Amino acid sequence: MAQIIGGIGASHSPTIAFAKDTHKANDPAWQPIFEGFQEVKTWVAAQQIDVLFMIFNDHITSFFFDHYSAFALGVDDQYSPADEGGGARDYPAIKGHLELSRHIANALVADEFDMSFFQNKPLDHGLFSPLSMIIADEPSWQGSVIPLQVGVLQAPIPSAKRCYKLGKSLRKAIESYPENLRVAIVATGGLSHQVHGERCGFNNTTWDDEFLELLEHAPEQLTQLRLADYIERGGMEGAEVIMWLIMRGALSDTIQRTHRTTYLPSMTNIATVIFQELAAPADTAEVAAYQMHINHELAGLDQLQGTYPFTLERSHTAYRLNNFLHRLTIPAHRACFLAKPETLFAEFELSVEERELIRERNWIGLIRYGVIFFMLEKMAAVLGLSNPQIYASMRGEDLATFLKTRNVPLQYSVAGKAQAQQLDQT
Ligand code: FE2
Repeated sequence: MAQIIGGIGASHSPTIAFAKDTHKANDPAWQPIFEGFQEVKTWVAAQQIDVLFMIFNDHITSFFFDHYSAFALGVDDQYSPADEGGGARDYPAIKGHLELSRHIANALVADEFDMSFFQNKPLDHGLFSPLSMIIADEPSWQGSVIPLQVGVLQAPIPSAKRCYKLGKSLRKAIESYPENLRVAIVATGGLSHQVHGERCGFNNTTWDDEFLELLEHAPEQLTQLRLADYIERGGMEGAEVIMWLIMRGALSDTIQRTHRTTYLPSMTNIATVIFQELAAPADTAEVAAYQMHINHELAGLDQLQGTYPFTLERSHTAYRLNNFLHRLTIPAHRACFLAKPETLFAEFELSVEERELIRERNWIGLIRYGVIFFMLEKMAAVLGLSNPQIYASMRGEDLATFLKTRNVPLQYSVAGKAQAQQLDQT
């Protein structure tokens, strides 16, 4: 079974990445940062960590206000550094752990956390700033990462208590994963800082020390604080330390702190902390019961003929093709799709199989491949076809036969007004 080896706390200020990329390890002003992170790097290597579960917040780089969510779990097979304005860092993409991330996704939703999931997103300094300091430079680290993005920048945001509870479920999720993996939970962000407004430049190292003490010995006390308390004590942006409660919640009561440093060079009090997990592995019977709980909602559905639940597996496998068809909502894309489909297929690097499925209007083939139905109806609308034509095709019937099975033999589609009128007259 997978095992939580310990927890890491690390600030994620962009100054950390700047110091690394500009080789400041021997500069006295930056040296304490490197010394703190070196301890963490040594621990990760010595403990032979396979997976780093990284809790961070994006800084309005890849997660914008068009759709802002509380807990967004990465379910991809790799993650690259994002361009935050001046070009992406010269740092390689890091492997994601697909299977474990899906298992955690199912577990957290089963525990009634309404998660969101992301893939095909580059990630900013919130993740890569500390990550690049705590793993050995490529290619020597063979492990993988699972990112959890916490939406802490647009209120309302989750409470410290909610974060702690999520950590408790995260522990059960990881401990019920059947493969023998050594996992560390990494909380990033903080400590005290504020980067906006007249209060910009605020720090409170006394509170930071108290926070670290409480985190280690009495985390429940931290769950009683409101967001306003965190903001007042540690600065507006420093309130992101509520994410550390997720890490602490995922650890047991019996931990040993083996490392702790803080250093305030400029705007953010930069911390590095290691909590070694000392608890015995989870009880086998409890793990088995939790596995049943995770699978409860969809268990047995694979026996239901002609039904294809759209899971994270299907979403990842068919992402390229779903993305291609989703873009039919863009007028220029659909114009090209109609005028020069082969050019568009090549531009989006569709596979031979994917191209053939589209050319043949193989609706059931597309579903079996992993395309969600709602992309089919978009494609049909662009082609001037109706939804019932797709339904009939998927059932292996002609249109007239299918329409006889309906109370009213209607034809319709999701096409816009002009195409809808055209369809209505046929
Ligand atoms: Fe941050």
